[in-house]
Amino acid sequence: MNRYAHVTGWGMAVPKKILTNHELAQTVDTNDEWIVSRTGVHERRIASPEDTTATLATEAAIHALEVANLGPEKLDLIIVATSSPEHIFPATACLVQDQLGAMNAGAFDLSAACSGFIYALNIATLAIRSGAIKNALVIGSETLSRFVNWKDRNTCILFGDGAGAFVLQASDLPGGLLSAVMRSDGSGANSLTIPAGGSKIPTSAETVAQELHYIQMNGREVFRFATRVMSQATQEAVASAGLTMADINLIIPHQANERIIEAAARGLDFPMERVVVNVGRYGNTSTASIPIATCEAIQDGRLHSGEKAVFVGFGAGLTWGAAVVQWSGPFPTKHKVRPASLRAWARLRSFLRRLVRKIEGKIWKGYF
Ligand code: ACO
Repeated sequence: MNRYAHVTGWGMAVPKKILTNHELAQTVDTNDEWIVSRTGVHERRIASPEDTTATLATEAAIHALEVANLGPEKLDLIIVATSSPEHIFPATACLVQDQLGAMNAGAFDLSAACSGFIYALNIATLAIRSGAIKNALVIGSETLSRFVNWKDRNTCILFGDGAGAFVLQASDLPGGLLSAVMRSDGSGANSLTIPAGGSKIPTSAETVAQELHYIQMNGREVFRFATRVMSQATQEAVASAGLTMADINLIIPHQANERIIEAAARGLDFPMERVVVNVGRYGNTSTASIPIATCEAIQDGRLHSGEKAVFVGFGAGLTWGAAVVQWSGPFPTKHKVRPASLRAWARLRSFLRRLVRKIEGKIWKGYF
């Protein structure tokens, strides 16, 4: 019997603090008119010192689990797609696993820049369709404001913070993620990079002084690449699902730049009224942009059960990809699960596990 991976829950979380173009223009040589005409961005959200990639991810995940009516203990897999992980290791996904109390889940981060959410959706779907797992949580979460050089007007106008999450569940009923394409071209690696802090250029006083820990981007190069691949990837994913563009109700693209989105829609001859655009309010939230845009599309009544949507994105790497989904909604369940109320238990569980580890350490010390 065939197995399918349905999206049964969704959620988003954005920091409270709004940074408008006018506010930015007071600290860097730019202006609202330039930013809006070149990118479509009016404002973006900025993480407070208490917000981290994991806390935003956890908040979005709890909303998604609530919609799916699924307890965190039922999760088999958590993937956090992120371009701003909390550490090189441990994975941000493990911190989310702990904050949720998802005691039966494997957890890892996925690094494919802004295409990461599409990659993660595809990997989780393949795991479900293979029969290996039943329930997966896929999150895109970012605190990119911490990697932005706020003196660099080429980049600081673009990015914002936030998180979005989907719950994917196995079912024999046809639907869910129907197809996906994942592509890359590492020859364009220098177009968009944070040069230092990895193993090639480890952190040193010099790398900090040279500002090599901030995002560096060749905007024009990325723009040209993005306008080329967005429509290409969409067409490939739609064809691979055995569909045509006439079957597609909605396109939910990565929110990097309104002009890139419009160029992609033109290339596909697809009406802009059926393309979701919210870059104006959040800027580019990298891996979080597609799930945040999806949550808002649902809230606005633009995506309904049974309809077909395309997710499409591009990012550093270079990477790009697209996926076709037949929208499902939550599976019917008998009991109401409240993952938010389980948070206190997750905290207690985490504390007890740390305590046990400490006691174990003391006992073992006695033996060796
Ligand atoms: N305010 C005012 N003027 C500016 C600003 C600014 N913020 N930034 C650049 N300019 C000036 C430039 O100095 C240049 O001036 P000049 O002609 O005197 O030299 C002029 O405006 C035009 O600059 P361009 O770089 O050619 O502007 P462009 O129209 O290409 O827009 C932009 C720049 C918005 C960055 C665009 O290239 C773009 O969106 N590229 C794609 C970026 C992207 O999507 N990145 C994210 C990828 S996803 C991921 O993985 C994170």
